[in-house]
Amino acid sequence: MDKNNMENNMAPEDEKYTAEFTVYKEDPDGGYSAPPPPAPVRQQQTQRPRKRVTREMARRRQLAAIGIVFFILILIISGCAKACHKDDDSSSKSGKGKKGATETTTSTIAEIPTQQTVTEAATEPPTEAPTEAPDNSNVKLTTREIFLDNVGDVGISVIQVYPNGSTERNEVWRSSDESIATVDSKGYITARAPGECYIILSFDNNPNIEIEIKVSVADGTESTGNMDAAPMHAAPAPAVYDNEGLHYIDGVLVANKEYTLPEDFAPGLDPTAEAQFNKLCEAAAEEGYSIYMGSNYRSYEEQQELRDNFINWYGQEYADNYAALPGESEHQTGLAIDCASYSGTFSETQEAVWLAEHAHEYGFIIRYPEGKEDKTGFQHEAWHIRYVGTRVAEEMHRSGLCLEEYLGLS
Ligand code: DAL
Ligand code: ZN
Repeated sequence: MDKNNMENNMAPEDEKYTAEFTVYKEDPDGGYSAPPPPAPVRQQQTQRPRKRVTREMARRRQLAAIGIVFFILILIISGCAKACHKDDDSSSKSGKGKKGATETTTSTIAEIPTQQTVTEAATEPPTEAPTEAPDNSNVKLTTREIFLDNVGDVGISVIQVYPNGSTERNEVWRSSDESIATVDSKGYITARAPGECYIILSFDNNPNIEIEIKVSVADGTESTGNMDAAPMHAAPAPAVYDNEGLHYIDGVLVANKEYTLPEDFAPGLDPTAEAQFNKLCEAAAEEGYSIYMGSNYRSYEEQQELRDNFINWYGQEYADNYAALPGESEHQTGLAIDCASYSGTFSETQEAVWLAEHAHEYGFIIRYPEGKEDKTGFQHEAWHIRYVGTRVAEEMHRSGLCLEEYLGLS
């Protein structure tokens, strides 16, 4: 078949072929000439018999091509995913996270359901992650270590910041060794025998929180040397005086208009109360407040003298409201101290505000609080503090009760 015939037999509807045919037709030599030697493919195309390609066939070919490209893409992505998975495994084992790699893997593979297992493995937390470890991060206590010098001493670590959702009603206290120290439901720790143990605080609505307070109980023969280092909340109960005619209720020596002191009871200023007061003054000074000791221990006779003076200077009514009769004054117990300040009349100073907020931390109570005049029998005295030890002071501060209420006397 010569070229011309061959061309004539070609499908005329093939536009491409028609264009090529036209070129040859317009050969400058005139007439029909052989195609130029280069472009062998084109040569072959022009010479190869062409099949009739319908639109349906073209569409199928297109789909097949897309399918092949998609398959290749899957193979490539699958290969990448496996490589990333290996990276994640090794970083988990070494304890180092590769956040970027994990995110890339996740987002890429999320489009390919067959690779879901890779995605899960990449985002799973390491098996050694301490998911059940106690979360004590946002709980604050005044101390995590308590020293008690003698069996019977009481200490406490006050919770300053509760965990989210917990209050004092959720506190659960227990001791690791009750033969060394016991703890009550409010956290008051009592030394039972020399040794060491832990007091454990938890919260019934926060099972992941558990806090240990180390307790060291000395044998009483030798001080732990912790007078300064000891937590201020470990202030012991006041001395118990073995005198006839004294009235103790719940370990507290009572002196008021109902329970009076013998005339010959003359203990002087209690040394523990004095030491605790000095700590209180130091703490106040650190915060910029000046508190110092005014009137403290007064004998029966000195109280009589003061009472007489009050009547003479201010009248009977004032004396009844602010000066106890001899035998009815706490000053005779050696456990009461009147606070003074360089800032002015004490009840009008910022020192009085500070004292009301912090006295209990050192084992003192504001003995004659505002609003309790009918219970105590005296007007409010912002300056008069009474040493009762930490346990009672903290409980009274929490409850807002005055001493008569606390002891069930009113
Ligand atoms: N100021 C108190 C009531 C006293 O004299 O003991
Ligand atoms: Zn006083």
